[in-house]
Amino acid sequence: VQAHPRDARQAADAAQERDSTSQATATQAALPGSGWRYRAVFDTAPVAIYDVSPDGAFVRANPRFCQLTGYSAGELQSLRIHDVVHPGDLDADLAHTRRLLSGEAGAYSIEKRFLRKDGGVVWAEVTCAAARDPHGTALLLVGVARDLTAQRQAEADVASLAARLEGELARRAAELERANKNLEAFTYSVSHDLRAPLRAISGFAQALVEDDSDRLGDAGREHIERIEVASQRMTTLIDDLLHLSRISRADMHLQRLDLSTEAAAIISKLRSRDPARHVRVSIQEGVVVTGDRSLLRTVMRNLLENAWKFTGRQAGAHIEFGATTAGGQICCYVRDDGAGFDPAYAGKLFLPFQRLHQVTDFPGNGTGLAGVRQIIERHAGHVWAEGSPGRGATFYFTVGTEPAATAHHTP
Ligand SMILES: Nc1ncnc2c1ncn2[C@@H]1O[C@H](COP(=O)(O)OP(=O)(O)O)[C@@H](O)[C@H]1O
Ligand SMILES: [Mg+2]
Repeated sequence: VQAHPRDARQAADAAQERDSTSQATATQAALPGSGWRYRAVFDTAPVAIYDVSPDGAFVRANPRFCQLTGYSAGELQSLRIHDVVHPGDLDADLAHTRRLLSGEAGAYSIEKRFLRKDGGVVWAEVTCAAARDPHGTALLLVGVARDLTAQRQAEADVASLAARLEGELARRAAELERANKNLEAFTYSVSHDLRAPLRAISGFAQALVEDDSDRLGDAGREHIERIEVASQRMTTLIDDLLHLSRISRADMHLQRLDLSTEAAAIISKLRSRDPARHVRVSIQEGVVVTGDRSLLRTVMRNLLENAWKFTGRQAGAHIEFGATTAGGQICCYVRDDGAGFDPAYAGKLFLPFQRLHQVTDFPGNGTGLAGVRQIIERHAGHVWAEGSPGRGATFYFTVGTEPAATAHHTP
């Protein structure tokens, strides 16, 4: 019988449909019971699953739940859920269960503690739902519990670490505060306690010259003169020390600052103070950094004054200010072709009262660069020097690109 082509196609489609349906039915029939899928999930799930009857008796518990509580599946058969819940969480647990059984709530999720067989306590996040018959009566309560032990442990670790860090931070802050107080007390005693005896020394030396000049003779008068000069010098040193301690405590107000302009202003002051000198000065335009205006001015002043001073014996001296940019950071420099210094001592220059030149050659107290270093470090930057004897010196500095957290920012 020759079928109509369209009928034939329809027949084929129908046959195929029948075929695939019967195949699915066959697969289903081959499965060991309707709960096969549930069984597989139940046994292998990485969470604890348990069923209890409405009165709390265990019906089933998966291997993960046994692991969580330390009881075997067999042991759980003779227990009720209340036997494995921590007494502290029992009331809340019962209240939730009651609402579930009455149909007031569909499911609930809480964090609670299980009491293990060995007496240990395990935190878990538990989700509970009710399986009901067609009339809505709850037949079973199904719980799924996720072990929170590792999470809780990590939280506790983080909390204790934070507490330890906080304690350490507070201890350091207190230490720093104490150190600052000591420094302030020291500053105070330097300014008041030391200055008074110094004034006395100088005053009585003066009195000696005025009252007993005849008896002193030339040698005596010269000694008195030296006492005078030395006490003058000590006064300057004390002033410098006070200035250094003020730098370390000064408030910082960060703002954009054109160092080229500052350099030009400082140089013009130096020129007017010393009009006889002919110094060629090159200043790179537009070197702008973020920092405290007054403190960075002090840096520029110290470096340029040094360059000016240590080229003092140079006929056609040359001083240069400029900047290079490397890795997004500006590196400023002040260069001169003056006396220079022995590079072996380049690190020493930044220590208070350390000088590489004789006061008779180049006057000074040796605190300028110590202040420079303090200021640059407060700006989270670095300062260093290069030089060689008779061939001039270059001083480099950076200021941190990130404004210090404690500083104000004034755009
Ligand atoms: N531009 C420079 N050229 C050569 N040596 C320098 C220069 N700047 C500083 N120094 C050396 O570093 C020392 C410390 O400098 P500083 O702290 O400014 O003190 P001061 O200027 O009072 O001598 C100087 O005494 C000198 O030996
Ligand atoms: Mg100096």
